[in-house]
Amino acid sequence: MPASDLNVVILAAGKGTRMRSQLPKVLHPVAQKPMVAHVIDTAKVVGATTLNLVFGHGAAQLQIALSHYDVNWVEQAEQLGTGHAVQQAIPHMGDEDTVLILYGDVPLTRAETLSALLAAKGDHPLALLTVNLTDPTGYGRILRDAQNRIVGIVEHKDASAEQHAIREVNTGIMAANGKDLKRWLAALTNNNVQGEYYLTDVVAMAAQEGATIASAQPASAAEVEGANNRVQLATLERAYQARQAEQLMLAGATLLDPARVDVRGTVEIGNDVVIDVNVIFEGRVVLGEGAVIEANCILRDCTIGAGARVKSHSVVEGAILAEGAQAGPFARLRPGAELAKNAAVGNFVEIKKSYLGEGAKAGHLTYLGDTTVGDGANIGAGTITCNYDGVNKHQTVIGAGAFIGSNSSLVAPVTIGDGATTGAGSVITATVEDHALAVGRAKQRNIQGWKRPVKKG
Ligand code: UD1
Ligand code: CA
Repeated sequence: MPASDLNVVILAAGKGTRMRSQLPKVLHPVAQKPMVAHVIDTAKVVGATTLNLVFGHGAAQLQIALSHYDVNWVEQAEQLGTGHAVQQAIPHMGDEDTVLILYGDVPLTRAETLSALLAAKGDHPLALLTVNLTDPTGYGRILRDAQNRIVGIVEHKDASAEQHAIREVNTGIMAANGKDLKRWLAALTNNNVQGEYYLTDVVAMAAQEGATIASAQPASAAEVEGANNRVQLATLERAYQARQAEQLMLAGATLLDPARVDVRGTVEIGNDVVIDVNVIFEGRVVLGEGAVIEANCILRDCTIGAGARVKSHSVVEGAILAEGAQAGPFARLRPGAELAKNAAVGNFVEIKKSYLGEGAKAGHLTYLGDTTVGDGANIGAGTITCNYDGVNKHQTVIGAGAFIGSNSSLVAPVTIGDGATTGAGSVITATVEDHALAVGRAKQRNIQGWKRPVKKG
C-alpha cells in the first residue's frame, strides 16, 4: 500500500507590521535564508509531496524570492483567521492526503519533530504539536479531559481565568486527514472575541466526533517560536546558530567560542578541525581533517584541505586549498584561486582564477590573476600580474622553481620559464626562457657631487 501523500500548507499571509519593513515578514532571513525557505526545506525533508503557500501581502516579492521552489500559490486576499487561511488551500487537498500545517514565520522546527508528530498521528484523524511554557500568555491553551484526552483549544483572549493557568499551549502546527480536515473547515464560524475563523476550532469538532487527538512535543520551545519583530528575529538567529555550532562540535570541530561562529550555509568537516572566534561560513564549505581557521575569517563556497590553515582576517571565496596549504593573515582568495599542497600565500595577497603549484609561495603584497604558478616558485613582495588591458584578460604562466623579484610587473600574456628569475622592479613584457635572468628596469646611474636645491630668500 503506498504511503499517503503529505500535503503541506504553509501559512504566510500575515502582514508582519511589526517588522516595519518593505519586505514581507516571511522573507526576513535567518542565516541568510528567508524564514519561509527554512520551512519549505524542512517540509521537503519530511517528505512533502505537495506544498501550498498561503500568501496575502507582497506576492511579487515572495514569488521572486521563492521562484526555485515548486509550490502552489494560494492567495488569502483578506486575513480572516488561521482557519480561513487553511480553507483557501482546500482545492489542493486530496481526501487521502495527510495535511501538515506549518507557519512561514516559524523557521526552526526540526524535521525530526515533524516526523514525530506524523508518527504520533498514525491512523488518527488529527495530531497537534504542543509545548509546555512557563509563561503561556497569548497562546491557545490545550484542553484535556479527566482521562488526559485532548478535547479542544481555547484562545488566550477567549479563555477563562482557570484556563489561563494551563501551560500546555498550541504551537499551531498540526497534522490531519485531508477528508476530515475539509469537513471540519467547512463548519468553522467566527463566533469568538476576535471575530476570526480559528483553525483551532477543528480540535473540538474532532473530539466531538469521538476521535482520538494525538500530540507530540518539540525538543525545545525555540523550534516553535515565530518572529513578529526584529528582536524576535535576532533571537531565532542566535538559536539557529547555537544549533549549528553544536553540530560542528559533535562532528569533531573545536570551536574556541561556540557563540562566535556563524554558519549561513553548510559546513562539512573532518575530525579535529579548529575554528577560532568570529568566523563566518557562507554557501557550501568543506574543511578537511585538522584544518585550522583562525579568527575573523569569512569563508564562502570553498574547500580547505586536511591540515590546511586559513590565518586570521582572511576572506576566502570560491577557492580551494589543498592539504597543508596556508593563506593569510589578511589574504583575499577570490573565485578560482587554487593552492596546491603546501603552497602558501601571506598578508595582503589577492588571488583570482589562479593556480599555485605545490610548495609555491607568495608571501606579501601581491596580486595574481589568471595565472599559473609552477611547483616551488617564489613570488616576491609587491608582484603584480597585469592581466587586464582594459578590454580583455590575459594569462600569465610562471614556471616551476621560478623566482620573481620584488615589485615585478608581469604584463600578460607572458610566460616565465622554469627556474627563471626576474630582477626586482622589473616590468616583464616578453617571454623569459627557462633558467634565464630577466632585468626589465632602467639601469642605475649615480651623479657625483649633486647639490640639493636650496630654499629661496
Ligand atoms: C495561533 C493559534 C494559537 C497558537 C498560536 C501559536 C489560532 C486561532 N490560534 O494564534 O492557538 O497558540 O498561533 O503561535 O490559530 N495567518 C494567516 N492568515 C490569517 C491569520 C493568520 O496566514 O488570516 C498566519 C499568520 O501570518 C501567522 C500565523 O498564521 O504566521 C498565526 O497567526 P496569528 O494571528 O499570529 O495567530 P495567533 O493569534 O498567534
Ligand atoms: Ca502569533
